[in-house]
Amino acid sequence: MLEYKPLKTDFTQAEFEKFRNLIEERSGVFVADRNLDSLRISIVTEMSINGVDSFEEYYHLLRDNDPYREYLRNLVNLVVVNETSFYQTPVHFDILKNTVIPEVIQRKDEKRLCIWSAGCSTGEEPYSIAITLAEVSDLLKGFELQIIASDVSQNALDIAREGLYSAETVKAMPASLIEKYFKREGGDFRLDPKIVEMVNFRIVNLVRDDFPFDDFQGLDIIFSRNVTVHFKIGSTRKVLDRYYRLLKEPGYLFLDPSEDISSIYQAFRAIQFQGVQIYMKGVSAFIGAIPAKLSLASVYLRQKKYDLAIKVCEDILSGNPGNIDALIFEGMIKFKMGDLSGAEVTLKKSLEINNTILVANLFLAEVFRQQGKKEEALNYYDQTLRLLDQDHVETNIERIIRLRGDTISRLALDGKKKLGGVV
Ligand SMILES: C[S@@+](CC[C@H](N)C(=O)[O-])C[C@H]1O[C@@H](n2cnc3c(N)ncnc32)[C@H](O)[C@@H]1O
Repeated sequence: MLEYKPLKTDFTQAEFEKFRNLIEERSGVFVADRNLDSLRISIVTEMSINGVDSFEEYYHLLRDNDPYREYLRNLVNLVVVNETSFYQTPVHFDILKNTVIPEVIQRKDEKRLCIWSAGCSTGEEPYSIAITLAEVSDLLKGFELQIIASDVSQNALDIAREGLYSAETVKAMPASLIEKYFKREGGDFRLDPKIVEMVNFRIVNLVRDDFPFDDFQGLDIIFSRNVTVHFKIGSTRKVLDRYYRLLKEPGYLFLDPSEDISSIYQAFRAIQFQGVQIYMKGVSAFIGAIPAKLSLASVYLRQKKYDLAIKVCEDILSGNPGNIDALIFEGMIKFKMGDLSGAEVTLKKSLEINNTILVANLFLAEVFRQQGKKEEALNYYDQTLRLLDQDHVETNIERIIRLRGDTISRLALDGKKKLGGVV
């Protein structure tokens, strides 16, 4: 059993600076003034473990006698603040689930989604990401999912791989998710091995010059919350620049709401969303890209949040009244809500702009059928089938709702049958 020796001398400011500089120079981790006490305790702990009696001697051990940086790693493990929890800043996971993932998968031709939790600590952040992906697995069907999680602390990664957590760390999660993804083990919570398997952990120092760039190519999303607190401005800038280069365009960066990087690094675009700031490389939903906004509306539609879906469409139409996709989408939402006359007006408007859009014709036919207007309904079913014959299948809106031509023809033929029309 190791005996911890009592603290013999107090840490002077000069000693603190010496250790802080050495740690930063060798590991990139910057110990802030407020963490002086934590550094002192960590050093004394390590001195006791290694049978070193003075700060001076321990300093020389770290500086001159640590070829494999083992002593340094152990000290850094103690110094770094690993504080984290599941669903920390829950709104981030809402944005990820309801906005960012739908936007990314709607847009990407390549069926691959790659997310990096940089500075993942004991795993709560990457596992919260994995749970979020599992929750939208229907949207992600056919996608290759990659979640990479890295940290400089081996201790933290060992805990992460174990997948066993205290009640304290899961308490911000909705009870339904705890129930679904954890099993009680004594007073602790064992994470579902399927979620554990989704995350690939590795040790990486974000500021080191030998950072393995090749292993982090093609990222769609980076989470790196509460990590820059460990760095001085120079290292923060260097790390943000790495994130920027590694992200695809468009790509998303999630930082903690307290980390405002706008005065340090300007390449990212800061976007306010649901009351928090997230950062983007390139352009997408939040800054006016219509297809992405429509994908958000389609998510709301699926969730039966009709009012929100209509709001998104109206937002598009306010700046772009002739946007045919938004018109058709709004018509479809009104139809789903049972607002048949509203749906009729909106869908007709869209057909005035372009009458060769399949789904607009199909939905208008359905609207008329439900209103009992047989003649009009048959007219639009026929128009739908004619358009199919003419092979007008590839339209934006058709892609958006993921209807295939054969589904449309089936619906149109069904509609006609119900009305007793000739098929
Ligand atoms: C407060 S935790 C944040 C955990 C998680 N991102 C979250 O917000 O829930 C900060 C993490 O950054 C890691 N870290 C500090 N300096 C680092 C460096 N140079 N390279 C990689 N990770 C580092 C620490 O080990 C620690 O686990």
